[in-house]
Amino acid sequence: MSDFRPQLSLAFDSPADETADWLVLGGWEDGPTNPAWEALDERLAGLLTKLTAAEDFTGKSNSTLTIPAPRGIKAKRLLLVGLGKQAKASRRSLHDAAATAIRIITTRKFDRIVLALPKSTAVSPDEVVLAFGVGAVQGSIGPDVRRSEPSRHPPREIVLVAPSSGKRAAFKTVLHRAQVEAEALTLARHLVNAPPCDLYPETFAAQTAEIARKVGLEYEIWDDRRLAAENMGAILGIAQGSTRPARFAVLRYQGGGSRTVAYVGKGVTFDSGGLSLKTNEQMLDMKCDMAGAATVLAATQAVAQLKLPINLLTVMPLVENMPSGYSVKLGDVLKARNGKTIEILNTDAEGRVILADALAYVAEQKVNHIVDLATLTGACMIALGTEIAGLMSNDTVWSTVVSDAIERSGERAWQLPMDEDFEEALKSKVADCKNAPGARYGGAITGGKFLEQFVNGIPWVHLDIAGPAWADKESAAKDSGGTGAYVRGLIELAHAYVA
Ligand code: BES
Ligand code: ZN
Ligand code: ZN
Repeated sequence: MSDFRPQLSLAFDSPADETADWLVLGGWEDGPTNPAWEALDERLAGLLTKLTAAEDFTGKSNSTLTIPAPRGIKAKRLLLVGLGKQAKASRRSLHDAAATAIRIITTRKFDRIVLALPKSTAVSPDEVVLAFGVGAVQGSIGPDVRRSEPSRHPPREIVLVAPSSGKRAAFKTVLHRAQVEAEALTLARHLVNAPPCDLYPETFAAQTAEIARKVGLEYEIWDDRRLAAENMGAILGIAQGSTRPARFAVLRYQGGGSRTVAYVGKGVTFDSGGLSLKTNEQMLDMKCDMAGAATVLAATQAVAQLKLPINLLTVMPLVENMPSGYSVKLGDVLKARNGKTIEILNTDAEGRVILADALAYVAEQKVNHIVDLATLTGACMIALGTEIAGLMSNDTVWSTVVSDAIERSGERAWQLPMDEDFEEALKSKVADCKNAPGARYGGAITGGKFLEQFVNGIPWVHLDIAGPAWADKESAAKDSGGTGAYVRGLIELAHAYVA
């Protein structure tokens, strides 16, 4: 068992008899039909029925009601959380309900929090464990881990109470997945929240190596000399403006089977824009520009810990994008690993340039499928908002596999068209292509079209996560800062990849 806090555990049946600082109970908006709810109502002498009748508790999604010192149950405090309408329940809605409840509770220090698992007609019992378990851990950890007095306190133990009729052995398997998934989600959030003075290409690479050793992954870290020897001219070109040298991290997980999937993540540890300098406002959150790399690293850690029978090749190009006398200039031409030349017309379109080398590298390794994750364009946020990733692909079968997995995981992505005419915008007069189109329209798609040139026809999906990777403000279920978005989606995809 790891020393991660909190630890998830399972208990069976009677939530009323669990000794705890808090008991969390979910209630549907449209009536009880929930054994845990009914049993607790009885022990509480009809209190829940009364609160519902008085509309003190409505069951509306993520609404809450605190009941201190309840009589008739062993827990010291009771928190009711709304689960919304039964037919609309999903892994997302249950994850968010658990996170909402735990976010409220963990503003103080407690040891043991118990959650009664709801019965759902729309979500399988296994998925309820996964959603509540991962949601509860997410809700217990805040972004302020560097404060002398953090405002949130993860408990030692979070106990999920399942009805005793459940299959105990099967629940154990999914509980293990929930713990692993929650730790991966937390890792991604911590990496994205880390300040760029602590997290830069060399330290990101060092953390990658440490994780690889911990979970038993093969790994390689390429320094700038190796990058030059390997013809990674695109990564080196972007990195040259910074005093922090580039790194390229490769993880290999061999779990078995004949196919290999590649996870590729954009790792710009700080994006100032380079000579095409961002404004203060635009630059404020640009430590989040390595969220793609954090996500693929975290998901790979989980795949190794779960010992999934798949082969996974994970690569992370790591750079800092800075203006200086050494910076790549507008009009400069870089040569990527596959020999394609790239004219740089905007140094702030740096993500696609470093991904060009990374994608060419995995394509060369003869992988069967590729997914890349990148905080690539502000244009994608204009198109889809802050909660939904843009999905672009060169292959309808693979894009369906990826988008179905994301959907099942409770996360969201929306496919954008990839018609050939968008390529026009990337034609250069002097090189094979240019990194930035002249016009702003369709900016997410032209970003995807740029990347497509480097995958050598291998089935590939690009997820533009510029919106979902980072939360400006906190909400009921989610803290501000790094969100860990698509860690769950990539773990679900790895399960779907099992032949
Ligand atoms: N890292 C940014 C994209 C971004 C913007 C991520 C906002 C998260 C929030 C990326 O490197 C960038 O600056 N893209 C440019 C591309 C343009 C110059 C073609 C953009 O979106 O403006
Ligand atoms: Zn940029
Ligand atoms: Zn960027």
